[in-house]
Amino acid sequence: KSVSGCSGQLLPGHPGHFCLPNLSRIMSRSKAQGVMIFVVLFVLATLLFLYSSSNGNTIISYISLPSSRKFYFFRPPLDLRLWGVKNGYLPVYGNKTFKLHCQECALITSSSHLLGSNMGLEIDQSECTIRMNDAPTTGYEKYVGSKTTIRVVAHSSVYRVLRKPQEFLNKTSEMMLIFWGPPNKMQQEKKGTLFRLIQKASMTFPSLSTFIISPQKMRQFDDLFRDETGRDRKKSRSWLSTGWFTMVIAVELCDRIHVYGMVPPNYCSQRPLPKKMAYHYYEPKGPDECTTYLQNERGWKGNHHRFITEKKVYARWARRYNITFSNPKW
Ligand SMILES: *[C@@H]1O[C@H](CO)[C@@H](O)[C@H](O)[C@H]1NC(C)=O
Ligand SMILES: *[C@@H]1O[C@H](CO)[C@@H](O)[C@H](O)[C@H]1NC(C)=O
Ligand SMILES: *[C@@H]1O[C@H](CO)[C@@H](O)[C@H](O)[C@H]1NC(C)=O
Repeated sequence: KSVSGCSGQLLPGHPGHFCLPNLSRIMSRSKAQGVMIFVVLFVLATLLFLYSSSNGNTIISYISLPSSRKFYFFRPPLDLRLWGVKNGYLPVYGNKTFKLHCQECALITSSSHLLGSNMGLEIDQSECTIRMNDAPTTGYEKYVGSKTTIRVVAHSSVYRVLRKPQEFLNKTSEMMLIFWGPPNKMQQEKKGTLFRLIQKASMTFPSLSTFIISPQKMRQFDDLFRDETGRDRKKSRSWLSTGWFTMVIAVELCDRIHVYGMVPPNYCSQRPLPKKMAYHYYEPKGPDECTTYLQNERGWKGNHHRFITEKKVYARWARRYNITFSNPKW
């Protein structure tokens, strides 16, 4: 069986991940060597199969959709803590250096699963708290806490954050804002509108340290997605989510991460379907979370977020990087 990008044989059950070299060609080269390689590959294949079948991949996901995939030889997982390029985060104003290390971080999602129990106090006791986009704390302190050390903001949420300075910018405690977006929109040399707005906010509020993810680092985030999912982000018409950037940044900065309000990857494929929950805790009448996840995962026309695929990657990282999950616990 030959598929574009894979000259050899596909490992059954692992469409997105593995491509074994053409066995017959190897065998003819040297019989003894060939048999040896075969045995090794067989053992490897068995181990990989056992490993991934324990992940509970029940959902028909983006990964298993037929399409022009890219295949990669299995390579040892890279260590995200040693992964980052230098100067991956460019200061927007002044010459602040990106230097933060926390032993323990709380990563607070924007999901309405947070409204289930009162984790606010526990969250605020974390050394560092990381939030996303325009997820507010005012009015939701009981559930999401009030402290924000780092906020990761997508290009598409810049206006929503800058529009409410009292909520997101004018704070007495030091806060780091990290913006990500397509380089042409975000970069200084392009004199992008967004960049100028962010710069103005950084000059206005002294407690803010604002950074933009460098173009080089943006490409690294794409490469990481490709290496972890077997799919090229652009060719597979995927958008990375703010969650993807936030999780990677958290792994880079924190020794331990406690994620609040993130469902496990197979959550939305449960039968019976889980009850409807708002995608954002601060938009109770907004879209349903599982509907949003499933539509995006299956979407093929236009670009889509692959929330479920991303969560499968987080599940693997959890074992590697001290990540635990609450509300729901997994
Ligand atoms: C950067 O900051 C340091 C002090 O932290 C200062 O000595 C230096 O002049 C600054 N450089 C520029 C280009 O502003
Ligand atoms: C920031 O908040 C303080 C009160 O907490 C207020 O006096 C000040 O005017 C605010 N600054 C801006 C620029 O909004
Ligand atoms: C996980 O956290 C524990 C306790 O803080 C720490 O001792 C250990 O080194 C961490 N493991 C990794 C892989 O960072």
